[in-house]
Amino acid sequence: MQADHMKPLLRALAGETLSKPPWWLMRQAGRYLPEYRQVRAKASDFIELCLNPELAAEVTMQPVRRYGMDAAILFSDILMLPYALGQKVSFQEGEGPVLEPIEDHKGLGQLDHDHAVPRLEPVFKTVQLVSAALGSQTAMIGFAGSPWTVATYMVEGGASKDFRQVKSWAYRDPQGFGALIELLVDCTTDYLAAQIEAGAEVVQLFDSWAGVLPEAAFERWVIGPTQRIVAKLKHRSPNCPVIGFPRAAGILYGRYAVETGVDAIGLDTTVPHEYAREVLQPLATLQGNLDPVLLTVGGPALRQAAIDLRRAFGTRPYIFNLGHGVLPQTPPENVESLARLLAEPIGP
Ligand code: CP3
Repeated sequence: MQADHMKPLLRALAGETLSKPPWWLMRQAGRYLPEYRQVRAKASDFIELCLNPELAAEVTMQPVRRYGMDAAILFSDILMLPYALGQKVSFQEGEGPVLEPIEDHKGLGQLDHDHAVPRLEPVFKTVQLVSAALGSQTAMIGFAGSPWTVATYMVEGGASKDFRQVKSWAYRDPQGFGALIELLVDCTTDYLAAQIEAGAEVVQLFDSWAGVLPEAAFERWVIGPTQRIVAKLKHRSPNCPVIGFPRAAGILYGRYAVETGVDAIGLDTTVPHEYAREVLQPLATLQGNLDPVLLTVGGPALRQAAIDLRRAFGTRPYIFNLGHGVLPQTPPENVESLARLLAEPIGP
């Protein structure tokens, strides 16, 4: 396809530098939008919402309709995979996710590997509905959690401060823990491949807890599994770019970019611009890394930070995004200001 017929996000992912960077925001759908809260109230719980293709497609489209981002990201959650594997998962208002923890090798036997991806059929239907509704310039992003991050929730039973359970298992019994990770590698690959088949044009792997591991464990539980997923996806769908988001990986971002085979890396908020531009941007398209708190603050602070980012990264392949997800406290009008700012050319 001729490059100028391609969607801006796909052009940046193919290594092109655009004068105005394409943009989208992690967690761009959700509670900060009144129209989300309205739809959310119609579903009995969050999982029901994720498994209702009409409602999930509507919620996926809401931010794109309001702000005209260059991409829609499927509305679902990284914990839908543990749910589909048969683990008990619930989302309690104000508390975050709660899972019945899997503590060791025995817990693995209870996971229903074979039916997991078929159970997520409604999610693929959502992707189809959104793809059909998107304009010719807007890309459809599918996603999953990375095995390490999903495993932290499965083993800890929810969010964690010190990751003691999951790390203990990984250090004590790497074979047994490795079996959980490999199961997740297989299911995640099939899950993403099905999203691609349904119309996702890009997929992102969220590794929100990549940054809590020492180097040897990072290599084994983050780089290795990500590399295997990317290789299998590239074999099945060579034209579908993959974005990796190993949050808080620090200087290990470099090894991640080189060794996993991803097309782009999502930078978290703490990655210094000069380091990223000099060391990482020659290796992969960069995405990020505006502090989500700036989007709650708005005004001149937001404006200056967005300009600084475009100056730092705009001369090489770059996708404008946050360094983590949109916060529920974000005033919708600040996202509107950001959209306007990104549509303007910037001076030298
Ligand atoms: O980006 C998008 O707009 C698409 C939807 C999306 C959600 N979760 C919706 C959601 C995506 C891409 C995710 C990813 C996700 N989920 C991650 C990785 C990114 C990150 O934030 O680090 C993680 C770790 C999760 C797990 C998860 N889901 C947590 C910790 C929580 C509770 C905290 C919170 O923000 O509420 C969720 C629930 C969740 N996922 C909500 C939404 C809109 C809120 C649920 C509600 O509306 O009641």
